[in-house]
Amino acid sequence: MDKLSNDLKGKVCVVTGAGSGIGRGIALACAAAGAKVAVLDIQESHAAEVAGLINGDGGQAMSVVCNVAEEDSVIAARALVSNQLGTADVLINNAAIFRTGPLECFALADWNAMLAVNFTGYFLCCKQFVLPMLKAESGVIVNVGSLSAEAVVPNMGPYSAAKAAIVALTKQMAVEWGPRGIRCNVVHPGMIETPATAAAYANPESRAARVRAVPLGRIGTPEDIAEAAVFLASDRSAYISGAELTVDGGFGRNLFGLVPRLPDTARS
Ligand SMILES: NC(=O)c1ccc[n+]([C@@H]2O[C@H](COP(=O)([O-])OP(=O)(O)OC[C@H]3O[C@@H](n4cnc5c(N)ncnc54)[C@H](O)[C@@H]3O)[C@@H](O)[C@H]2O)c1
Repeated sequence: MDKLSNDLKGKVCVVTGAGSGIGRGIALACAAAGAKVAVLDIQESHAAEVAGLINGDGGQAMSVVCNVAEEDSVIAARALVSNQLGTADVLINNAAIFRTGPLECFALADWNAMLAVNFTGYFLCCKQFVLPMLKAESGVIVNVGSLSAEAVVPNMGPYSAAKAAIVALTKQMAVEWGPRGIRCNVVHPGMIETPATAAAYANPESRAARVRAVPLGRIGTPEDIAEAAVFLASDRSAYISGAELTVDGGFGRNLFGLVPRLPDTARS
């Protein structure tokens, strides 16, 4: 674990969905920035592996099995973290599930399951972990959103809707809790290679097409998102609240780069 900075030295950071992909990258980066990290995930072995990596590298972490969609599970997780690491200074909501299908035949059970984890799960973790923050009049929440909050992904209706709702929730919390010392922001990843998206990059042609769509010419990594999350979690962003930070290599600004263009008319 390379030392990133001391930006989170002594802070207790809770990261949901931290057993894999972007959450894992964020948990490792928080530890590298000096934080004590609570690695929350529904997958016990994955959470334990990440906490083990941090502890084995001289950091301090604990793994917690938690289903963010169930309030009792979140309450239990909060108590465990508080007992073992101390009350949370930073909450990073990241856990999500991915199911796809055309809107007109999206099964209601799948729709509800996606909203329960990807949106209500964010609310429940905020609702519970903010309590000690409000008491301390200090705390930071970082929500992992997605470019799809604005540029929707076909066949991922509830996913895009949940991400748009997270933006609204983030603004709501920034306004309601800002006067009580809490900052809340959202980071929007673009195309990031993780276990959840690995299949989209397995085929070289599909991978190359995706890379061509990104002005910076590469697919993002969990570390790219983790850098932004640590920045938003740290005092370096002390005056930033209610903001959206897009980390996508320019992909979201590239609509006209994806269609044929007329010859140049002003070339010197
Ligand atoms: N990978 C991308 O290209 C991309 C792009 C934009 C946004 N995102 C967002 O980044 C976040 C992480 O995505 P990822 O690609 O790393 O996915 P991932 O599947 O690799 O990791 C998600 C983690 O969440 C955990 N999880 C799922 N349901 C849970 C629950 N109910 N309670 C607790 N944990 C649960 C999973 O076990 C897993 O460890 C998500 O919010 C996703 O929407 C990803």
